Amino acid sequence: MTIKLDGKSVSENIFTKLKSHIALLASKPTLAVIIVGTNAASQVYVKNKIKACEKIGIISNHIHLDASVSQNDLLQMIESLNADHTINGILIQLPLPSHISEKKIIQAIHPKKDVDGFHYSNIGALSIGLPKFISCTPLGILTLLQHYSIEISQKHVVIVGRSNIVGKPLAMLLTNHDATVTLCHSKTPSLENFTTQADILISCVGKPNFITLSMVKEGAVVVDVGINRLDNGTLVGDVSYETVSKLASFITPVPGGVGPMTIASLMENTLKAYKIQTPCM
Ligand code: GUN
Repeated sequence: MTIKLDGKSVSENIFTKLKSHIALLASKPTLAVIIVGTNAASQVYVKNKIKACEKIGIISNHIHLDASVSQNDLLQMIESLNADHTINGILIQLPLPSHISEKKIIQAIHPKKDVDGFHYSNIGALSIGLPKFISCTPLGILTLLQHYSIEISQKHVVIVGRSNIVGKPLAMLLTNHDATVTLCHSKTPSLENFTTQADILISCVGKPNFITLSMVKEGAVVVDVGINRLDNGTLVGDVSYETVSKLASFITPVPGGVGPMTIASLMENTLKAYKIQTPCM
């Protein structure tokens, strides 16, 4: 029997706990959410993040900038949010328009307000096993696996996708939890030779039906980070769910798997940022 990893319900439990915790605070955590331009997927993600804030009592400061905003103006805005003591967390939805350097923008966020965990000081801290802010999708995946008591220590985790925001930090996080991690990517030859060895297979490539039945070991735990919209409007992951779900021991659905867990981790990180920045609570 295959068990569905229900990120929706696990995230709801986390929201409930965070809400009661936040209700007891003397003031409310505040998250600045910046979106540049009109990327349809980004608008949906940002809307969901703001909705989660409202649900649990985090104040969100939604900043929508025109796609033509200059890199300098965006950097200045980040500087003023860094200096603003009423703002605990700063999130800049990616991707950014091509005239803006994502690397420069991410590094401009003060590490103590970097609730996405993308700044190199937070990535570096994770890499030496002393994490501060852990990137939200990797942290959400860890929380989901732990919720279902899925053993990570001594397991072979194969990650397909080496992005700076998911694949790489996830590899470090699960290595810190004593998994043996293989990080594969678009230039890995004979990918299936690796994926079929996985006790836990995690795909974060962003291509529909990329992981097919023959690439998965029977009984594997399958985690699908992909959120791909087909031409007919339906949302699908990277994994051929219909077939792979018959072989896997546990599998995340899309939607309702990793996505809500990413948002739950963002809420946790924002509360953490508030606590770091707020003396004498
Ligand atoms: N774009 C896709 N995923 C993310 C994320 O987790 N954080 C931000 N800021 N942008 C994203």
